[in-house]
Amino acid sequence: MNIELLADHSESIPMLADWYISEWEPYYGVNGPGNARADLESRRNRDQIPLGFVAAEGGELYGIAALDLDEATGLTPSVVGLFVAPSQRGRGIATALLESAGFLAKRLGHSRLYVSTAVLGGLLIRVGWRSIGETEFLNKEQGSIYVRDL
Ligand SMILES: CC(C)(COP(=O)(O)OP(=O)(O)OC[C@H]1O[C@@H](n2cnc3c(N)ncnc32)[C@H](O)[C@@H]1OP(=O)(O)O)[C@@H](O)C(=O)NCCC(=O)NCCS
Repeated sequence: MNIELLADHSESIPMLADWYISEWEPYYGVNGPGNARADLESRRNRDQIPLGFVAAEGGELYGIAALDLDEATGLTPSVVGLFVAPSQRGRGIATALLESAGFLAKRLGHSRLYVSTAVLGGLLIRVGWRSIGETEFLNKEQGSIYVRDL
């Protein structure tokens, strides 16, 4: 599995937008305030934030994430839009995307990286992130904010 830039997979943006709409329907669905396709299109940069990247294998995309401003926390750069295709979960793809997020942010000159999540805290703490507070997502779910020095 390789981590590649979203800029090199523009043709997959409609499929990726469908992933986002299915997972975050209240935000990205027809009645929500977000626009999945526009967010993904804005992340096709190669050397600046917002920067999207994907997990790819054999011509298929298995997961996606991006470095961007996290609207919920106001922190940047943050890992946002982390999503792994349901059939590919539990193989370490999110772990690989988070690792690559660190490399990419560092390459762009950042010394810190943030992420807010309700589900990945255990993994994050194990691989060197630390919790710095709580946040509330748009769906009112509570999550924690994590930071990692690069
Ligand atoms: C959360 C998500 C990205 C994890 O992707 P993944 O490729 O399966 O994750 P990994 O295989 O790298 O596993 C990472 C760790 O998180 C745990 N994990 C994954 N999904 C989890 C969930 N929904 N709840 C609790 N723990 C979860 C795994 O068990 C693993 O921990 P372990 O190493 O202790 O076993 C994926 O389930 C997904 O896309 N979910 C829907 C979108 C979402 O919730 N995104 C927000 C993430 S911040």
